Amino acid sequence: MTKKYQIAVLPGDGTGPEVVVEGIKALEACAAKYHFKLEYTTFHIGGEHYKKTGEILPDHVVADISKSDAIFLGAIGHPDVKPGILEQGILLKLRFALDQYINLRPVKLYEGVSTPLKDKTSKEIDFVVIRENSEGLYAGAGGCLKRGTPDEVAIQESINTRKGVERCIRFAFEYCRKRNKSKKLTLCGKTNVLTYAFDLWERTFHEVSKEYPEIQTDYAHVDAICMWMVKNPEWFDVIVTDNMFGDIITDLGAMIQGGMGVAAGGNINPKGVSMFEPIGGSAPKYTGKRIINPIAAILSAHLLLDTIGESVAASAIESAVKKALRDDIKDVAAGKMGYATDEVGDLVARYIKEGAGVNV
Ligand code: IPM
Ligand code: MN
Repeated sequence: MTKKYQIAVLPGDGTGPEVVVEGIKALEACAAKYHFKLEYTTFHIGGEHYKKTGEILPDHVVADISKSDAIFLGAIGHPDVKPGILEQGILLKLRFALDQYINLRPVKLYEGVSTPLKDKTSKEIDFVVIRENSEGLYAGAGGCLKRGTPDEVAIQESINTRKGVERCIRFAFEYCRKRNKSKKLTLCGKTNVLTYAFDLWERTFHEVSKEYPEIQTDYAHVDAICMWMVKNPEWFDVIVTDNMFGDIITDLGAMIQGGMGVAAGGNINPKGVSMFEPIGGSAPKYTGKRIINPIAAILSAHLLLDTIGESVAASAIESAVKKALRDDIKDVAAGKMGYATDEVGDLVARYIKEGAGVNV
């Protein structure tokens, strides 16, 4: 029997809807070629919807979304909406409600894409950041006193639970084993200052590492990681870190791999519903111009298929993207691709269909 998957599509704001359409082209090309079926339900949530209705993300919509096998998200963010409202009300609400405790962000420079790092090529820039996605500073613990007065006190605490830290570290070891590259897992922390939180991370890391004797472990402080990501990105295979540090270093990662146009990510609950998104945001100024690069969204579709178990189809997307980047697309920046947004989507879908691509 043909396998069938339910995909919740959240096109969102700005250029989100445009890139999601191109991601779906790639998914459909895979479904046709590899004989599975995808059924889409679109949910119109985001800044526009909020402005029209005052509604952000009601619980009954979360309940509907959570019935799907995976979520494909465009971008959330609207210039007329105060920062924080949509981010917390949609993105973080979904991550927490669906317990997507892993944020998986590959940092990979594809051939044909230029990096701002001199002398680094696709051989040197190819690692994955596993960011804890449900705790830390993002848990929202804290409060303030005497707000707006000279005596104001603001406290924002980082919550790190043994369970939360352990499941993330365990996922990272498993991922590193499966990735089978240099089998090296680096813990990114700040044990010299954050002596409670990263003491827990470090002890857990060492304990879990005993179950993975074939994986080499390493540790670096987050500030040093930033330095090495620029100077020696080839040192990294898989990096595991907490929510806040993961947020910061993956933006740096996105830049060294060529920019937001190619940076994809997955919010993963290994036993539940995961959500995939280009990490670049809604880029409102490019909306409707057919110039935004859909590759990040298409690579998110690749992560989506890989996570739901369609790994052959997933690598077909990556191979097609590799070829398009190497042979066709001039520059990954919006407006400089030499192709319109939809033409890039068509090209990748055609390569998938033809089985043309670069082996991965
Ligand atoms: C990301 C984003 C979000 C985060 C924001 C929009 C809340 O920067 O996905 O990295 O900080 O996690
Ligand atoms: Mn971020």
